[in-house]
Amino acid sequence: MKTIFSGIQPSGTLTLGNYLGAMKNFVEVQEDHECYFCVVDQHAITVSQNRLELRNNIKSLSALYIASGIDPNKSTLFIQSEVPAHAQLGWMMQCVSYIGELERMTQFKDKSDGKESVSSALLTYPPLMAADILLYKTDIVPVGEDQKQHLELTRDLAERFNRKYNDVFTIPEVKIAKVGARIMSLSEPTKKMSKSNPNPKSYVSMLDDEKQITKKIKSAVTDSDNEVRFDVENKPGVSNLLTIYSLCSGLKITELEEKYKGSGYGPFKTDVAEAVVNVLKPIQDRYYQLIDSEELNDILDKGAEKANMASYKTLKKAEKAMGLGRKRS
Ligand code: AMP
Ligand code: TRP
Repeated sequence: MKTIFSGIQPSGTLTLGNYLGAMKNFVEVQEDHECYFCVVDQHAITVSQNRLELRNNIKSLSALYIASGIDPNKSTLFIQSEVPAHAQLGWMMQCVSYIGELERMTQFKDKSDGKESVSSALLTYPPLMAADILLYKTDIVPVGEDQKQHLELTRDLAERFNRKYNDVFTIPEVKIAKVGARIMSLSEPTKKMSKSNPNPKSYVSMLDDEKQITKKIKSAVTDSDNEVRFDVENKPGVSNLLTIYSLCSGLKITELEEKYKGSGYGPFKTDVAEAVVNVLKPIQDRYYQLIDSEELNDILDKGAEKANMASYKTLKKAEKAMGLGRKRS
């Protein structure tokens, strides 16, 4: 069975983009893969965080994973900082990374652009991400398109390490979903939908209620030709709503274009909102059951235990290959 690893940062409530681009795929792949899903809190502190908010976000994200359908009997769900091997191997991967290649990462360029005090960890974030992945002998990393560059770097670092020291790491594949890989902002449909956008009308949060969802979808930016047609170049807003609708309903985009021929945007948007509510409502019900429960703590304790066991082996192999510590006879 192939192994899958993926991580999400606990930095604000997840959006519909996170769900359709990441979480929904995770739920599907856990059926026939060994899966590790990680709340990457150590990645979140590369930018300044309020401690109480961070704590809440860690718990909330953990509950959302389970509420979305991650089954703790099939998959391992854990918090990064509860598994020390991540930071340990992260340091070792930094030692095989070059400053130049890290400075070329577009996420680093975007996040540091124009800022005066940028933490050094923002630059060394990709070697930590590489460690996350490599510790579990991961074969597949299902992520959105924005993470592709980090994945390619992970492969480079793993190959470099294997060549220089010993064949320790499995080289992971990158798996990008074809449809829904990138859900766009509702207010500026040429930009990615993101929880860090200051305008809450630009995204649907996974915890928005029915009224909020309907309001946001209805005010989504479209265009003036009133034709429901998929054309990313000329009709980015409508195309984004079609993608969302298709992923939430299971109907094909061509079927939806046919269904709304000549009917304008009003009824279309009403139905998109309904499809989104139908997907999010059951997730929210389960979320509120879990959020302050012992059940969630038990799941996370067991997850950390399993992840600690699995990652320790790879960490020790990598340390041995590099010559760290003592040799025991
Ligand atoms: P982030 O919220 O940036 O930490 O991303 C967590 C996961 O969700 C990553 O796998 C991203 O690629 C994915 N993701 C985030 N935003 C979107 C989006 N608008 N559309 C599709 N996938 C997304
Ligand atoms: N860098 C990813 C993001 O910002 C989060 C992440 C950290 C991750 N470690 C990972 C994703 C390992 C996949 C695998 O979205």
